[in-house]
Amino acid sequence: MENSFRISNDIASAETLTSNFYTDDDVFESSKETIFARSWQLITHTKNLKKHNQFPFTFLDGFMNEPLVLTQQNDEINCFSNVCTHRAHLVCLESCDSSILRCRYHGRTFELDGTMKAMPGFENVKNFPSQKDNLDSISTLIWKDFIFVSLNNKVDINSVLADADHRLQGYEFDKLVFDKTQSTEYIIDSHWALYCENYLEEFHIPFVHKGLTKDIILDEYQTILLENGVLQTAICSDGEDAISLSDSAPDSDKKMYAYYYWIFPNLMLNFYAWGLSINIIEPLEKSKTRIKYLTYTLPHKKQPNTDGTDVGTIEMEDQAVVQSVHQGINSRYYETGRYSAKYETGVHHFHKIITKSL
Ligand code: FES
Ligand SMILES: [Fe+2]
Repeated sequence: MENSFRISNDIASAETLTSNFYTDDDVFESSKETIFARSWQLITHTKNLKKHNQFPFTFLDGFMNEPLVLTQQNDEINCFSNVCTHRAHLVCLESCDSSILRCRYHGRTFELDGTMKAMPGFENVKNFPSQKDNLDSISTLIWKDFIFVSLNNKVDINSVLADADHRLQGYEFDKLVFDKTQSTEYIIDSHWALYCENYLEEFHIPFVHKGLTKDIILDEYQTILLENGVLQTAICSDGEDAISLSDSAPDSDKKMYAYYYWIFPNLMLNFYAWGLSINIIEPLEKSKTRIKYLTYTLPHKKQPNTDGTDVGTIEMEDQAVVQSVHQGINSRYYETGRYSAKYETGVHHFHKIITKSL
């Protein structure tokens, strides 16, 4: 299909992505291959492979529905197709600890590196086993103990991650602890990309987030475009909630309130003084999106949660505007808009990456 979406490189003359990107069934369907199969998805933390060395999961459950399994052997983590090479039963059905993968349908076994090990009843089968009988291997990437996987590995996210490594020197990544009580999932009535667009601009902050507006110096808010990513930074209005960084970090002389990293297409890593909040924006349907909302806290640090500046309140404020935009984008009277050249460089960057991918 010829991609008819174009975004001018010059934000001052550009028009936004046309509404059929959000409303057309074929565009949504083809985004599985053009955007999501190529992308890196954050799956879990290495801690979740400490107890069980086999970790089955579904890549973009409800959308791509690809059954995969992570395995750990010594210190090596790998990912494989979780589909048995015999007749396609799923191999690993739940997290477990075992030195082999065993399919329960007819007993085929695999090594933790995906190689077929044994198969009963195949004594007279010719040219068996072959390469085809091994589990397909899936690309993995581990950053700060977070495990990412990609089906096609076509979106390079190394420079975004390197940017975070550089700016967040001294951030206590190894002390982050998953906080189940502050983690949840939301299903919203919106196209996934609208959620990302809202995240990528500061323009709405004074209109939508009154609480947050008090906590940060809006005039010093910055949006930095990266390869397959965007970083937004906010500075504290008072020093209380400043992120502690080492002296070698580029912003060590500033009272940093937050680093908001977005990684194309659907991952948000929000670093605060109290810890890390992660949003993974998963398409379900054109008009339905799951937001995985994960909280990792640093020891002895607490999220502010009294005066409308906690991340839960901000999340609700964002979801409300995103769902309103979704209604509007489906209107026959809306096709495209213009960008604020001052405040919407992140959205423009996102739209350009999308049109290049399609
Ligand atoms: S499908 Fe797995 S052994 Fe038959
Ligand atoms: Fe917002």
